[in-house]
Amino acid sequence: MAAAPGRRRPAVLLWAAVCLATALAVDRSNFKTCEQSGFCRRQRGLQPGHSPYRALLESLQLGPDAARLQLVNEVTKVPLLLELWGLQGNVTRIRIKELNPLRPRFEVPDVLVAEPPVERLAVTGRDEGSLELSLGPAGHRLLVTEKPFRMDLLQGRELLCSVNARGLLFFEHLRQRRDSFSDKVSSSVGSLWDKIKTLFHRDTPREPTAEEGGAAEGQEETTGGTEDAGTQSEKPTEATAEAAEEPGSWEETFKTHTDTKPNGPTSVGLDFSLPGFEHVYGIPEHADSLRLRTTEGGDPYRLYNLDVFQYELYNPMALYGSVPLLLAHSARRTLGIFWLNAAETWVDISSNTAGKTLFGKLLDYMQGGGETPQTDVRWMSESGIVDVFLLLGPTPAAVAGQYAALTGTQALPPLFALGYHQSRWNYNDEEDVAAVERGFEEHAVPCDVLWLDIEHADGKRYFTWDPSKFPRPRDMLQRLAAKKRKMVSIVDPHIKVDSGYRVHNELRSRGFYVKTKDGSDYEGWCWPGSAAYPDFTNPEMRAWWASMFAYDQYEGSTENLFTWNDMNEPSVFSGPEVTMHKDAVHHGGWEHRDLHNLYGLYVQMATAEGQIQRSGGQHRPFVLSRAFFAGSQRYGAVWTGDNAAEWEHLKISIPMCLSFGLAGLSFCGSDVGGFFKNPEAELLVRWYQAGAFQPFFRAHAHLDTARREPWLFGEENVALIRAAIRQRYALLPFWYTAFYRSHRHGLPVMRPLWMEYPEDATTFAIDDQYMIDRALLVHPVTEQGARGVQVYLPGKGEVWYDVASLQKHHAPQTLYVPVTMSSVPVFQRGGTVVPRQERVRRSTECMRGDPFTLYVALSPQGTAEGDLFLDDGQSFDYETKARYLHRQFTFAGNTLTASSADPRGSFDTPAWLERVVILGAGKPAAVVLRPADGSETRLDFQHEAETSVLTLRKPGVRIGDDWAIVLR
Ligand code: GLC
Repeated sequence: MAAAPGRRRPAVLLWAAVCLATALAVDRSNFKTCEQSGFCRRQRGLQPGHSPYRALLESLQLGPDAARLQLVNEVTKVPLLLELWGLQGNVTRIRIKELNPLRPRFEVPDVLVAEPPVERLAVTGRDEGSLELSLGPAGHRLLVTEKPFRMDLLQGRELLCSVNARGLLFFEHLRQRRDSFSDKVSSSVGSLWDKIKTLFHRDTPREPTAEEGGAAEGQEETTGGTEDAGTQSEKPTEATAEAAEEPGSWEETFKTHTDTKPNGPTSVGLDFSLPGFEHVYGIPEHADSLRLRTTEGGDPYRLYNLDVFQYELYNPMALYGSVPLLLAHSARRTLGIFWLNAAETWVDISSNTAGKTLFGKLLDYMQGGGETPQTDVRWMSESGIVDVFLLLGPTPAAVAGQYAALTGTQALPPLFALGYHQSRWNYNDEEDVAAVERGFEEHAVPCDVLWLDIEHADGKRYFTWDPSKFPRPRDMLQRLAAKKRKMVSIVDPHIKVDSGYRVHNELRSRGFYVKTKDGSDYEGWCWPGSAAYPDFTNPEMRAWWASMFAYDQYEGSTENLFTWNDMNEPSVFSGPEVTMHKDAVHHGGWEHRDLHNLYGLYVQMATAEGQIQRSGGQHRPFVLSRAFFAGSQRYGAVWTGDNAAEWEHLKISIPMCLSFGLAGLSFCGSDVGGFFKNPEAELLVRWYQAGAFQPFFRAHAHLDTARREPWLFGEENVALIRAAIRQRYALLPFWYTAFYRSHRHGLPVMRPLWMEYPEDATTFAIDDQYMIDRALLVHPVTEQGARGVQVYLPGKGEVWYDVASLQKHHAPQTLYVPVTMSSVPVFQRGGTVVPRQERVRRSTECMRGDPFTLYVALSPQGTAEGDLFLDDGQSFDYETKARYLHRQFTFAGNTLTASSADPRGSFDTPAWLERVVILGAGKPAAVVLRPADGSETRLDFQHEAETSVLTLRKPGVRIGDDWAIVLR
């Protein structure tokens, strides 16, 4: 949360009461529009069709790994270096930077997990104006056109993606500020800029010139040989081009903040055309539908990590985190564009089918007319270089794998972190914590973790405890540990400026704070009042931060205490757009401008590292972060920040988390119940039911909301909430296995239907239902007073089983499911096996070693398969010592077989199989268990003719053993 506008003091209570009493709405004037962001305005001012760039084909150098050639801006004459790589696994990397930059430009470190192996490139064709490169064995070819420069990526005869086809490459080269000159011309610069704009940017409509071949205004593509206007007749000299900078290029003021721009204009922009694609997704974080909209006529989607107070839904404004990965999907293929740049970034999306009705499209199709649908995407970043990975799929899973190969996969969470988390701002003191813990016990509601927000620390000095409210933290933590529960405390990255605070003194004396442009420690206003910001981009500072989590450094901390990093955009109440000044200076002399979106990732990285180190490298960390970037999945969980207790916020938690998942961040959740405002009981219950089926399951609430622990809403409601949480716990083996697979292969745990049914266009714009892994389809109730929901069951010839009634449904169909307050519509896909632990207890730790039940949902062909991952739930032993079990269950030919999915692992567990429920089965004459020793035992069973459910009682085999169960 950001401070209310103008607030300079943490007068939290008064302010909170005021804002809670009024309707929630963001104050948009606190945040820039594209028009108010100088570089975005300049980039967007450049209209399609007039690229001044030429590829110098004769400069091509084909190395063993990359192809390099020069591009030249024919107006400024500034040369750029274009580098191309074909990476193994269907990825093409394109990098454009200045050939001879005045100073180094920022290249994003620490996001790629490895330099991906390259394919050998070859020149396969060449003529006067173009050359063709082959990019590796998948038959991808890249056509580079000289003038205007563009690139077309083909597979066979199919055009997958064009780069700079609209001529929107715009690379603002570094330049010297011509102080005296620019001062003199500053008054006349405006008019000169206007003149240049009409020549190159075409804001003002003008007649096409003869050289343009009479291309009509708005025509989007130039053809080879078209001469750029201006380059022919009025070629500006370098000096005029440099002087003709828009006012504000070297200094920009927004509200009361002036951004001194010592490096002047440095932005980069480029366009990508995607023929055949009408649906694009990704680029979180936005409170918007999963499918991205076209941005024509409005603002582009913005990626700039910001603490947006009371964010609005369904708009492209920036939020707390950014992942510059966009996915395009059609029934034929999936493709990704990963724009590796950590500066403020805007993304424009346009489409030639936008606004056409389904009927209009159908008509086009029937008449054989209509253009191929196409989406155009334009990326614009304030600084850095152009570094793009084209992830060529062709399937959704392949794109997810390609992205994971670059940025890593979701860290495997400790098992407890998949349980239920109880948070609020704040649990007041040790007695309050004890009472809440007792509440869970008394009401038999499972709960793994209690959370402490900022008020727990001594004056918001993180790593400390308020001495009067939390005098004995270690005892409190031990009492929780005795109940097999954990705790999370908040550690924010703003440090109270206070000479009596050890953390501050150390950071200051070691020179670890971010600096102002003048070299002093950067200070801003945040929760503790005046605060300074550790420079998390400095590896030495990160090592120091990590060391602070040692048990003897973080006094009162114990093994069952984990961490929440909030406000790490970073949030600076007194800063421009509630964040850090862009001219602040980081390690290595880089401006904050260059790496803003990376700050939050580094905070979470250093904290996770601290938790690993405190355990001597033994235990997996758990860290929740509000800000994130590409790669953050390697460090823990993320959530959607300060939402509100409104039905619309409940609804949007689904597409928001889906879009996080598409960008690699599987461990996502939203504050259950809504952060601001007080939920009515119905909304709270529905939110618990929805949250129980989202990856990160935490209730949280604002300081000034009424208490809302589950038992405060009457018997009926606590029963409903208990049931929802118990469902979550029963399914934990399934969730944990799904996370393990996500950790291994990069597929999101919570995923849109189209990832599983890529050819089914009905699934492409669904926002209210999704899959967990490949087996469960969830359609939570998110409407007030709902009596039923329409559930789309995909898959031609497939069947689905309602997990509540176990009734079978044929697909594809849209099924009307009547609901009561206890309903959570969830369906198991025919052909899958879902493991459960149905003896739900107080916490995950209490369920360790408990027996399993397998739900075997048969396909129409009478088959099913699924798996189960099992380890100690907390250490790295699964990785370092192969201490795990990965079991495979297969049903075919009336036999259910258990075998090892991965013989490398072994793990000793007493857990056994207590039940098998086979959905869609006929009644057998007998059921026989065959353990690995070759013996045979008959099993008791029960068959429900009406639902075709066969329940096998007590097979009793150990879960780690091989066995077969035969239906005769
Ligand atoms: C921010 C967080 C919120 C937290 C509050 C106080 O607003 O998003 O979850 O409760 O700060 O720390």
